[in-house]
Amino acid sequence: MNRISVALAFLLALPIVQSSSRPPGTPPLNSAVERRLDSLLALMTLEEKAGQLTQYTARWTAPGERVRLIPDQEALIRKGKVGSLLNAYGADVTRRIQEIAVKESRLKIPLVFGYDVIHGLRTVFPIPLGEASTWEPGLIEKAARVAATEASAMGIQWTFAPMVDIARDPRWGRIAEGSGEDPYLGAAMAAAHVRGFQGDDLSQPNTILSCPKHFAAYGGAEGGRDYNAVDISERTLRDVYLPPFEAAVKAGAATIMCSFNEIAGVPSTGNRQLLTDILRKEWGFDGFVVSDWGSIGELRAHGFASSGAEAALLALSAGTDMDMESNLYGEQVEVLVRSGKLAESVVDESVRRILRAKIRLGLFDDPYRYCSVVRERSLILHPDHRALARDVARRSMVLLKNEKNLLPLNKQAGTLAVIGPLAADSINPLGTWDALGRPADVVTVLEGIRKAVSPQTTVLYAKGCAIDSSATDGFGEAIAAARRADVVVMVLGEASSMSGEASCRSVLDLPGNQEALLKAIHAVGKPIVVILMNGRPLTIPWLDQQIPAILEAWMPGVEAGGAVADVIFGDYAPSGRLPVTFPRRVGQVPIYYNHKSTGRPADDTVKYTSRYLDVPSSPLYPFGYGLSYTRFAYGRLTLSAARIREGESLRVGIEVRNTGERPGEETVQLYVQDEFGSVTRPVKELKGFCKIALAPGEKKNIEFMLSTADLAFTTLDMKHRVEPGTFKVFAGGNSRDLAASSFEVVAR
Ligand code: NOJ
Repeated sequence: MNRISVALAFLLALPIVQSSSRPPGTPPLNSAVERRLDSLLALMTLEEKAGQLTQYTARWTAPGERVRLIPDQEALIRKGKVGSLLNAYGADVTRRIQEIAVKESRLKIPLVFGYDVIHGLRTVFPIPLGEASTWEPGLIEKAARVAATEASAMGIQWTFAPMVDIARDPRWGRIAEGSGEDPYLGAAMAAAHVRGFQGDDLSQPNTILSCPKHFAAYGGAEGGRDYNAVDISERTLRDVYLPPFEAAVKAGAATIMCSFNEIAGVPSTGNRQLLTDILRKEWGFDGFVVSDWGSIGELRAHGFASSGAEAALLALSAGTDMDMESNLYGEQVEVLVRSGKLAESVVDESVRRILRAKIRLGLFDDPYRYCSVVRERSLILHPDHRALARDVARRSMVLLKNEKNLLPLNKQAGTLAVIGPLAADSINPLGTWDALGRPADVVTVLEGIRKAVSPQTTVLYAKGCAIDSSATDGFGEAIAAARRADVVVMVLGEASSMSGEASCRSVLDLPGNQEALLKAIHAVGKPIVVILMNGRPLTIPWLDQQIPAILEAWMPGVEAGGAVADVIFGDYAPSGRLPVTFPRRVGQVPIYYNHKSTGRPADDTVKYTSRYLDVPSSPLYPFGYGLSYTRFAYGRLTLSAARIREGESLRVGIEVRNTGERPGEETVQLYVQDEFGSVTRPVKELKGFCKIALAPGEKKNIEFMLSTADLAFTTLDMKHRVEPGTFKVFAGGNSRDLAASSFEVVAR
């Protein structure tokens, strides 16, 4: 054996390394692995090292036919100039490409294949904003597990998910991809996704690397316009935007993607404080950081780097290990090292992080372990996956209004008219980032309803209008259908392309002529249920005033129709709660529940307070809000102590009773207000939640443990700690309607 084969044989025999993040200062995960990485690094040329830091999107010889890469890309892989590909999938396809790396490149280092598996692969789940509406991290972990199972069966070992950006501005289209406005709920969902994607052991063939993104504060874009600058304080960064990332790292996230935006003048891709000081030194992250698409090159457009070489230098030195699609590391790393501008040790550290991830995946043991056609055939769109997708979808739906218990509908409804541009639509329910989802797999709302009703029920259908057009020629047919019906179900909302990346809106109303259609149908005088499918909060005050029943269904995924039918016919009582505030008007944006008090808190009856003249200060629907088919009553809050010392915990109890006639699930929410601080504190902050099922008349005592560590924040002196003082504590079914009490924290 020559030197290279000896070293490789050594590497192939590596023990499996578990994925976990280490607290700062702890020794490397596995010193044998590190020694082996040393020996591989010693064999690598600078060009090969730069190759490991390089990721390309797969480019195919024939568009649409994902069979062979263009010869140039194959040649680059052969030369060891590619560490990872994105957008290549399929057991067959990835095996063929992997063979080039493993059989034809000098060092035979396997590629890692990445893909945006955001809310399912072929079995598409609700968009992440919908997933967050379940308030069930355990369930979302299962959904992510299914996504990883399907992805890994198709040769994918790395997903660019979860997106854990806090979003307080619904104009921002990417609000659809995350868990909404709250750091606590966002952190719970972030950790759940990571656990689901990665499982307990990354070397198993059904687990994949997660990649929480976009680090950081991408959702804080000014004006809700994508890619825009963010100018926030370090305190807001730490207290609002970073907690979901920290939770994801604690859950063992193997990679992180940095964000396109700048924060206070420093683009994330070149932000050393973020990518090295906070991420690695404070949190002990031991994985690797990938840039966002072309974001290293974009350092020039930001006005942060004057050349490609400088961009590469700044990004790599800051801690961006892998270059997605800028091809600047490939071009510049060797030159930068040879000219003495970049220390080779910096390059080595990034290469080491990437190779370590490949080892964790087991790719050095068996580079084809994710390329099984048999697994692919048997697992994709498996009936169990679809069943879970339906359950998650129905649990993600939020009942916004239900006057006189119009819902649930009777399955023997006589004649039901199903109207609207999204009623029979099989494309848009898949939402943004629909991965390999296919419209043919989608159960439309119309199909779901037809399947659910009794044989005696007549279901009429009329589209009425397009999603976004000013045409009214379909109104007549829709009005005629409504006239013949006993009940009308209208399915309205946005196209999937109206949310997600580069899909921001300056108006949050129902697009096109949909509200006009709704008004025309309303004039017919029949009871109307509106099902909304959208990727963000919409401004729907007229609906709230005039329509008796409104169900927010988000973009529900492949099982849209079955899930909607389960809810509207009462086979499942709605239990979703809003993870984001619904404004009355776009002019109120940003509007979020955990805002500051100001010196003149809003009082709509007093002029010189913090408010608008032309709209009430309150939102249309508050964070945490959602109805059920039953009612819940809350008792008084009980506290285990009126005063605790720093380091101690408090038990907060509350009785919840189902006072209605049907079983239902309630999400009990715990909020805290730190009344006075060295810096001002939000009016309330979520600190706990739990979802419970209650039969009619049943009551349960819910207890939360609140420790003083839960009350910590970034103080005036930039420490993360609790400050002694008085606190209010609240519990209830949403962020507005709450029982309250108070306690005190005293110094140790
Ligand atoms: C750009 C997006 O911002 C990011 O979220 C995504 O993962 C990459 N493109 C790769 O598709």
